[in-house]
Amino acid sequence: MTDDFTKPSNSTGALTWVRDSLRHRGLAGSARYYSREFLDLLRDLTPERRKSRYGDIDFDFEHNVDTTWATVSLRTRIREWLSGGQYQPSEPVMFREMLDSLPVYLDGFTFIDLGSGKGRTLLMASDYPFRRIIGVELLAELNAIAQRNIARYRSDSQKCFAIESHAADAGRFDLPADPSVLYLFNPFPRHVWCNVLANLYRSLLAVPRPVFLIYHNPVHQDILAAEGWLQERARTHQFVIYQAVIDD
Ligand SMILES: C[S@@+](CC[C@H](N)C(=O)[O-])C[C@H]1O[C@@H](n2cnc3c(N)ncnc32)[C@H](O)[C@@H]1O
Repeated sequence: MTDDFTKPSNSTGALTWVRDSLRHRGLAGSARYYSREFLDLLRDLTPERRKSRYGDIDFDFEHNVDTTWATVSLRTRIREWLSGGQYQPSEPVMFREMLDSLPVYLDGFTFIDLGSGKGRTLLMASDYPFRRIIGVELLAELNAIAQRNIARYRSDSQKCFAIESHAADAGRFDLPADPSVLYLFNPFPRHVWCNVLANLYRSLLAVPRPVFLIYHNPVHQDILAAEGWLQERARTHQFVIYQAVIDD
């Protein structure tokens, strides 16, 4: 479990996120975006909303870990608001359905969650015969919790023990040149998606290999649909699975 990727300080991170927003959404677009999300953040502080977030706590009780979104601190919520992502863990039954929909045997593949939060998917993916499992999370405080979860996690059905979690921006992360399953649960705004896809395309041109991408809650699927090298392999209203196909 290492954390050797460039990690901006909190203030540098926040300034970068706001600057990126201004560049991509413009001044009026950023003002609209930040005010809408700020109202949502305020609504989330009401006792009813906070209580409802504990609905995802079963996984944590079963495995003695902390992956719930109910205990995310206000400071982290504010940093989520500035960065444009928001932590919410994947639900175990849905996660299994998505992995079982992949049209390949997973032995020898690397699982990579881009926007891995407290690392619940990294733990759930370890029930499958992946060669290794990698999480990439923008917020250092969530990554630190993910690393503690990895150290504590115990499961009789665990098959993969090579699990890492890194604090990094997914759009600037050096993808390993392994056959991979990329997992993205509606993690970030459009401009980060563009960086991630450009990064992935460059990496595949340099080292062609099998890569599948699971997009859970696909709100920006128009961006992926416009990439001719991403071919759709499965779809429900909750997720889409793509295969990267790069012509020689
Ligand atoms: C909806 S949560 C999903 C968490 C986890 N993948 C799961 O399914 O349980 C999205 C996560 O993406 C993270 N995120 C947002 N922007 C990111 C970026 N540019 N690079 C890496 N992670 C990012 C957020 O902080 C948040 O923890």
